[in-house]
Amino acid sequence: MTFSNKAVLVAGASSGIGRETALIFAAAGAEVTAVARSADKLSALKAEAGDNLRIISGDLTDPAFTDRLIAEAGDVDILVNLAGRTAHAPFLESDPDMWRAAWELNVHAMLVLSQGIARGMAKRESGHIINVSSILARQVYPLTMFYAATKHATAAITRGMRIELAEYGIRVTEIAPGLVDTELMDQPDHPAVVAAYAKRQNARLPAAEVARAIIYAAGTEAGTAPELIALNPHDQI
Ligand SMILES: NC(=O)c1ccc[n+]([C@@H]2O[C@H](COP(=O)([O-])OP(=O)(O)OC[C@H]3O[C@@H](n4cnc5c(N)ncnc54)[C@H](OP(=O)(O)O)[C@@H]3O)[C@@H](O)[C@H]2O)c1
Repeated sequence: MTFSNKAVLVAGASSGIGRETALIFAAAGAEVTAVARSADKLSALKAEAGDNLRIISGDLTDPAFTDRLIAEAGDVDILVNLAGRTAHAPFLESDPDMWRAAWELNVHAMLVLSQGIARGMAKRESGHIINVSSILARQVYPLTMFYAATKHATAAITRGMRIELAEYGIRVTEIAPGLVDTELMDQPDHPAVVAAYAKRQNARLPAAEVARAIIYAAGTEAGTAPELIALNPHDQI
């Protein structure tokens, strides 16, 4: 699959699924803009990917950064929204600031970036937005209520974008993975969540496998637009 002359913006590219996605797109000839907060991790990614990849570091929940990013990104053909965080904790013990932080990044920041990029796509009547949700976009597991709420919102927003943006020639796809082996799995620190994770012996998807699903969606013919790709470890039911 080749993505020569395609401009791809990967939001959340410094680790995990986003890093793998950026590397595969760059290897396939795309001009990749890799975005995340960690400048050092992005520099390491740039060193591995080479000339096809540029990095822009900043916080996607900062409106000033997002404005600058949208301006500097130029004409984007494919936007992949991956920047995300967890918010797992028992309801009665959880901190409302954590709910707000998860909502701001997983939902609000994704909306703001997508709107800015989609306005350019609409003018050119072409583009593809790929949003990474989760298996928790359609389920709620114990202790995952807040994160699951942000991912249910991601699914609704993705569906809504698909409906509204089709007339502008913009394709929209949701990728919904189950457990993936990334740094995200190390974030929860509440003892109840750590204990629940320790009990779950499910296999975890390699991040590169989810990246390949993203690349598949992006590489489909212009008249095609996969709506939802859900992929799980074989034993996650
Ligand atoms: N791992 C799983 O089991 C799993 C399952 C289903 C869905 N997902 C979803 O997949 C997506 C990617 O997650 P991952 O598993 O690959 O985790 P990850 O390795 O932790 O990647 C998250 C990415 O988001 C970036 N990010 C976080 N906060 C940011 C901010 N404020 N501004 C800009 N970038 C920010 C991180 O970079 P910096 O920290 O450098 O900013 C990193 O590049 C997320 O939306 C996640 O919810 C993950």
